[in-house]
Amino acid sequence: MTYDEVVRERRSIRGFLDKPVPRALIEEVIALAVRAPSSFNNQCWNFTVVTGEPLDRIRAGNTAGILAGRPDSREFRRFDKVPELHRGRQIEIAKQLFGAMGIERDDKDGRQDWVLRGFRQFDAPVSVVVTYDRVLLGSDIAPFDCGAATNALVNAAWSRGLGCVINSQGIMQSPVVREQAEIPDDQVIMICVAMGWPDETFPANAVVSRRKELDEAARFVGFD
Ligand SMILES: Cc1cc2nc3c(=O)[nH]c(=O)nc-3n(C[C@H](O)[C@H](O)[C@H](O)COP(=O)(O)O)c2cc1C
Repeated sequence: MTYDEVVRERRSIRGFLDKPVPRALIEEVIALAVRAPSSFNNQCWNFTVVTGEPLDRIRAGNTAGILAGRPDSREFRRFDKVPELHRGRQIEIAKQLFGAMGIERDDKDGRQDWVLRGFRQFDAPVSVVVTYDRVLLGSDIAPFDCGAATNALVNAAWSRGLGCVINSQGIMQSPVVREQAEIPDDQVIMICVAMGWPDETFPANAVVSRRKELDEAARFVGFD
């Protein structure tokens, strides 16, 4: 695949085959991801790759905690209320996903089932938990650098036929993730990436999200 093909064709994958991912392949993908640039080459990112029983315990604990009403304990700052412009984009992708899955607006059970799937990281065979060194907590650079590496990770995975969805639903109950993935206290949990072989028959996997037009995304100054 060319670089353009990887970038243009990659989509978030939310339905996976029940087929293990070889550790050597994940190592190959991470080796590419860590080629990402970082501020002062700090390489603050760390990846904890979880599969099998520990991952099942994360799914179960995350879901149980949320259903029991335990507060969201994701370890990054969030908006209290999503601004209207961004909320519009969120609604657009949700409509596309629900449309593909045949989940109607008033289908409460169908919607709940979809949300629960998210809390289970879409039952992916692998979850890569991205963390960064706690000594950098409070700087915006560490999340920026983790984002660069995580984007590189999902693109590298895609180039090898693996599908991913970067997700924060899976780390909603961070103590469970920390305990089961054995993440030390000197690490801040940034995000997780559900990874596996895409199930080509899963309708949501075909959804292509829209991007704002180039003239909305970029301004050019001094070119005339
Ligand atoms: C930081 C971050 C958090 C995300 N969290 C979730 C999530 O919790 N659940 C989910 O289904 N998708 C999640 N996504 C995936 C986005 O919805 C997706 O990237 C976006 O809609 C664009 O679609 P695409 O990845 O198919 O291009 C997340 C993506 C990012 C970058």
